[in-house]
Amino acid sequence: MTTLFTDLDSYSEWRNSIPFGKTIGFVPTMGALHEGHLSLIRAASAQCDFVVVSIYVNDLQFGSANDFQHYPRTQTDDVNLCSTANVSVVFAPLKSQLFPNEIMTLLQPSNAADHFEGSDRPGHFAGVVTIVDRLFSVVKPTHAYFGIKDYQQVAVINHMSSQLHPDISIEICATEREPDGLALSSRNRFLSQRARTSAALLPKALTTAITNWKSGVMQSSALIDAVHSVLAQDPTIKVQYISIVQAGSMDQVQTVGSADVVIAAVVIDGVRLIDNMSFANA
Ligand code: PAJ
Repeated sequence: MTTLFTDLDSYSEWRNSIPFGKTIGFVPTMGALHEGHLSLIRAASAQCDFVVVSIYVNDLQFGSANDFQHYPRTQTDDVNLCSTANVSVVFAPLKSQLFPNEIMTLLQPSNAADHFEGSDRPGHFAGVVTIVDRLFSVVKPTHAYFGIKDYQQVAVINHMSSQLHPDISIEICATEREPDGLALSSRNRFLSQRARTSAALLPKALTTAITNWKSGVMQSSALIDAVHSVLAQDPTIKVQYISIVQAGSMDQVQTVGSADVVIAAVVIDGVRLIDNMSFANA
């Protein structure tokens, strides 16, 4: 049975009742749960004695108030989904409980946050590390689960967590995709039918980089050009960035090796999508 806590004290009471030595797998989310989130929940449940899912739409990580207001909120469905997935606790706190002081200091993310999502969305990663740090302190998990779908987020959270929460084991899960390859995302519901068709070009373009690398193209610039060419087939796709970075850091590479990852962000009909693929899976 899943228990919903919206109150910090009730959650802490539950947490304090868990005997020392039991494992707590934590899946932080902003709700609007889909199969991608569920894959994290399943991984947590396979590894841990208890699973805690947080649902908190974090205003600190949104660039515009409009984006924050329009983020999908589906808490009743989310809690029902968690019940069917054997989640022990859904934690859905109010901002006033997580941050009781109106003036707060944001954490500074590591320099893995400097480019890509970090420069396209100024302040985004400070918001992410601030909330994840706060949730880690309140939830007190032994393990925490994140999707590699948000590649740069994983790098930045790993750095924050190894400094501030070294006892929490960070577990990284693979990207869940639609049959045509589009990575599942809470934002996909905003795609019109036409934009949804165009969106399938993003994973196709990244796959082209992997295929070309497998056939011997090692130069990052040539592989990036190939990704651009596929996306250029559809003029409604606006590219924000395409790059190839070293796994574990966000450093751009010239010559691509199996530990590297191709990352991209595009905007289609006003919906921003990100995705990445590792050359290790080639
Ligand atoms: P949210 O977008 O709700 O995602 C919650 C978790 O689900 C993240 O770790 C994300 O990488 C993972 N996820 C999303 N789509 C996925 C997919 N298709 N396959 C596998 N995992 C996927 O990411 C956030 O929320 C927030 O930034 C958060 C970390 C909760 C901080 O507010």
